[in-house]
Amino acid sequence: MNKNTQCVHGGSGGAIEVTGINTPVYTSTAYHYLDSDKQPYPRYFNTPNQDVVVAKLCALEQTEAGLLFGSGMAAISTTLFSLLSSGDHVVLQDQLYGGTFNLVMKEFERLGIRYTLAASDADSIVAAVRDDTRVIYLESPTNPLLTVVDLRSIATMAKRRGMVTVVDNTFASPINQNPSLLGIDLVIHSGTKYLAGHSDLSCGAVLGSQALVDRIRALALNFGGCLNAQDAALLERSLKTLALRVERQTHNAAALAEFLGSLDAVSAVYYPGLPSHPSHSIARSQMNGYGAMLGFELADDAIDSLRFQRNLKLIAPVLSLGGVESSICAPAITSHRHLSPAQRADMGVRDGLLRLSVGIEDVADLQGDILQALEQ
Ligand SMILES: Cc1ncc(COP(=O)(O)O)c(C=O)c1O
Repeated sequence: MNKNTQCVHGGSGGAIEVTGINTPVYTSTAYHYLDSDKQPYPRYFNTPNQDVVVAKLCALEQTEAGLLFGSGMAAISTTLFSLLSSGDHVVLQDQLYGGTFNLVMKEFERLGIRYTLAASDADSIVAAVRDDTRVIYLESPTNPLLTVVDLRSIATMAKRRGMVTVVDNTFASPINQNPSLLGIDLVIHSGTKYLAGHSDLSCGAVLGSQALVDRIRALALNFGGCLNAQDAALLERSLKTLALRVERQTHNAAALAEFLGSLDAVSAVYYPGLPSHPSHSIARSQMNGYGAMLGFELADDAIDSLRFQRNLKLIAPVLSLGGVESSICAPAITSHRHLSPAQRADMGVRDGLLRLSVGIEDVADLQGDILQALEQ
């Protein structure tokens, strides 16, 4: 071999015995295809690192198959466009993640996909179903008021009428809720949140039956929103601590919900684990834990919620959620800023509402941080 050839081939090609407990990172985007049934390629969603993570997520969500994407929105858009064609009708909740809402507003109208936005109770969703409805798309618990949707009864109705049900399970994570066990067909995650859990990785997933996932894969390889090997390996590592993290976060959130409820400076707390939350009984019947997201309102209009956030020393005012570090944001100026004040008021999203993503810190330190920021 000459130098140029050595640069490419020198030292490589030998079989490497792998005995380590971690999956090697297969950085290859090219795989031998002769004498092999499988032809891995990142955009075919079938490389070793993608497969390992999908298998783990399937075990966690109790599904047959799945696909990994480069973001939650890639998973959502690819799934919806693979299930819906021009002229079809879809029922969606009116309390959706802002990016999903934007997708519906901008792209569905342009492409002639019809839709109805319904309130989050099962009766409103069933009432919005028409003869041409193909899909019901839900989020539970919702952002930011943590409304829990009765997934079991919607799934039962949808099965009877031949519709596909999809649930964005990002807020609950597979630790606190498994929609497929309630009869839901497809489960979506923004893996950027709890699955990855360290605020350093963008990814998404859809999980369900082999037949539905194959249907989504057919479009996914045209859209091309796949996850690369390094990020898949990072996600695999993150998933090993998912239950530990989410159980601790959920425990902390329950403690903080009670603590916030006991403060004179707080007028309302939204957490499905509280018996006072309107969704408490549905949450108790379908969730394994009440989650680590909560909302609260400051009682006194004189308390400037922006100043309150600036005064926090541990809880970070950031846009994302689900990380090991606690974070906070005001939906009125972030996720719900595109709505008018009247629309926000209709949805119950007041200007002073704050959304807290509870991390794994010691809960006493989080309580102390809230108290010192209120005092200031
Ligand atoms: C509930 C929910 N679904 C989907 C998404 C979109 O995920 P990504 O930002 O990974 O595309 C988000 C992001 O905030 C979310 O909160």
